[in-house]
Amino acid sequence: MAALSGPAAVAQNLDQGKPAPKIFAESCTTCHRSARGLAKGRFRLTLYMFLQDHYASNSSSAWALTSYLESVDEGKRGPSRAAAKPRAASTGSSRSSLRPPAPVPTR
Ligand code: HEC
Repeated sequence: MAALSGPAAVAQNLDQGKPAPKIFAESCTTCHRSARGLAKGRFRLTLYMFLQDHYASNSSSAWALTSYLESVDEGKRGPSRAAAKPRAASTGSSRSSLRPPAPVPTR
């Protein structure tokens, strides 16, 4: 596993010195409104390789972004937004989206 020895060796590059939140704000917010929820609990190396492959042109900013995404993701497990997501009616043949929240009692 010598692959992890890297970041310090490749220190000279354009994005050097830019904090990850800034990189994110400049290059990523066009498409991702928030950094939160992007890491999704992935393995650090998986995330790193994804970022390096798709976005970051150099490995040190990819690492910085990896750490950043992880840091904003941790502690925010289970976004509260998910609870607010309307549950699709999976049963019943009614096509109406205006169903009552609970079955109407018949008696
Ligand atoms: C041009 C629009 C665009 C920009 C700019 C962009 N992304 Fe993405 N990103 C996407 C799309 C679209 C996907 C979904 C790709 C897929 O599902 O394969 C994605 C997926 C991801 C994922 C995986 C999320 C997941 O749910 O699997 C991560 C992490 C990510 N982007 C991080 C970044 C970072 C960090 C940057 C800035 C360096 C960035 N993105 C910039 C469009 C963008």
